[in-house]
Amino acid sequence: MARFSDDFLFELRSRIDIEELISSYVRLKKQGRISRGLCPFHVEKTPSFTVYSDTQSYYCFGCGAGGESITFIRNIENLSYYDAVQFLAEKVGLKMPEETADDGLYALRKRIFEANREAARFFYANLIKPDCPAYTYLIGRGIKPETIKRFGLGYAPDSWDALTRHLRSKGFKENELISADLSQKSRTGGLIDVFRNRLMFPIIDLKGNVIAFGGRVLGDEKPKYINTSDTPVYKKGKGIFALNIAKAHGRSLILCEGYMDVIAMHQAGFQNAVAGLGTAFTSEQAQILSRYADEVILAYDSDDAGKKAAKRTMSIFQSMNVKTKILTLTGGKDPDEIIKRFGREYMQKIIDGSLSSTEYKLALAKEGINTDTADGKVEYLKKAVEVLSELDDAIERDVYAGRLSEETGVTRTAIDEQIKRALSFRKRKQDIDSFNKAREILEGKVIAAKNALKLYNQSASLRCRQAEETLLASLIQNPEFYKKLKDKITIDDFSSALHKRLFFKITERIENNQELDLIYFADEFNPEEMSILTKVFQKGRTISNTLDECLDCIKVMSEEKLKQSAADPSKLSDEEFLRLFYKKE
Ligand code: CTP
Ligand code: MN
Repeated sequence: MARFSDDFLFELRSRIDIEELISSYVRLKKQGRISRGLCPFHVEKTPSFTVYSDTQSYYCFGCGAGGESITFIRNIENLSYYDAVQFLAEKVGLKMPEETADDGLYALRKRIFEANREAARFFYANLIKPDCPAYTYLIGRGIKPETIKRFGLGYAPDSWDALTRHLRSKGFKENELISADLSQKSRTGGLIDVFRNRLMFPIIDLKGNVIAFGGRVLGDEKPKYINTSDTPVYKKGKGIFALNIAKAHGRSLILCEGYMDVIAMHQAGFQNAVAGLGTAFTSEQAQILSRYADEVILAYDSDDAGKKAAKRTMSIFQSMNVKTKILTLTGGKDPDEIIKRFGREYMQKIIDGSLSSTEYKLALAKEGINTDTADGKVEYLKKAVEVLSELDDAIERDVYAGRLSEETGVTRTAIDEQIKRALSFRKRKQDIDSFNKAREILEGKVIAAKNALKLYNQSASLRCRQAEETLLASLIQNPEFYKKLKDKITIDDFSSALHKRLFFKITERIENNQELDLIYFADEFNPEEMSILTKVFQKGRTISNTLDECLDCIKVMSEEKLKQSAADPSKLSDEEFLRLFYKKE
């Protein structure tokens, strides 16, 4: 099922001029009806990258990369199909279509949201039943009933299929429950619950949908948490726990490691606390947070793993220019424990005294060094200069260099000199890294395109492939031919999987009276395949475009097919065998 309607893609295409689009990446020179430039997808000295404004497509005769505007953006910006469409829509001021009700995926997503919501209700109802072990557990950990309600916490009963049965009785189907990752197939083939005998944390998105669950054991068994795996409504590494609440509480967010930390923080009045979801914090999550926060305060566990994770997360935010601070949690391993032991005022003090990321790094650099000795001082200075050279902001560097000079008694000039050196070293390393990275991406793409082309070229004899290409190209140019050719050709007559799919898609669109334009193919065919498609589309201009030509192609195709299978008659259908048999006589 295509993700965007023809109408939408038509509108998108009509607002984009591919020459203009590509011009912002490649310097193009007009040569009559086409434009040429140096290919952005492989290294070349003479331009073989060609842009066709009449078909709104491009093709490189050097490396074989080709396509229309969406494929171009996919390749050059490294985006998925969907994101490339979004990128272009934004560029030309076109509103993205709302998901339409007749879309299969949309319907399934809707059902998953409904199932999740019903599951959350079910878990909550079970939690507040008398003698629920999870309720006792929560109260024992100092969680108040109103907090339980606020977060919609719940209990997955100690049963194989209590939830599955409940949701079935509400009309949910097996595939919906499995897609939602609420139920799973048992070894005997029945449906059982994914979460059993666990304290349940619903994950709620910014629109208020329940998108996933985290389930904690009540004891010390392993695994401690089970989390919903990826579903059509949830991608791990994308969601943020409690952001739905925290986003309304200022633009300084406190990022914790665990669900329980967030809950304890909120209960203590810090409603700007959020957490990632089980995985190491990703840059996608950072991107989301950066929309709601000017400053992120990291409240990671005080153990080594927590420190390491904090450092990693800090550098993700740094590369996005989001200010980070870091809490030094003393007196407990995590925010939950600290609040429980020392109360909210103490926590507030810790927050007020949180170190800027630079202060924190400097403190780490100093750890274990005796700066009273000359050697110690030098060692610390070396590490500290390294930290300061990582700062992008010159003013910040200046401030910390001043402090460092004061702290160590080493002159400002000497420190500045060292920073300057470290900076130029870093800069050079960065240049080399980004150059290598760009080259890697480029080379990867060229290889992928070349491999696709090679595989394709090997798939059948040249004669056969050309006949198929000509036939397809002619159908694209002259859809009306299909009526007359319909009985003479089927999908099986094509030699390669790509041509089969292409033939199917082209004829399907012809039957439905839909326009044939490259842009409608970009969803189903990947960028490498689009390159070949573009070649086929372009071929339409160099052939004679007659019905006879098509019939010739069909004849060549069947001859070539016979030749190919002649080596192994057992692979022939009866009809084919007879044809071959009589031909030989
Ligand atoms: N986590 C997970 N799977 C695990 C362990 C942890 O997904 N097996 C995630 C959970 O999101 C958890 C977070 O990592 O909330 C932090 O882990 P941890 O500190 O061990 O858990 P807490 O939530 O703090 O649990 P508790 O305080 O009850 O020990
Ligand atoms: Mn904890």
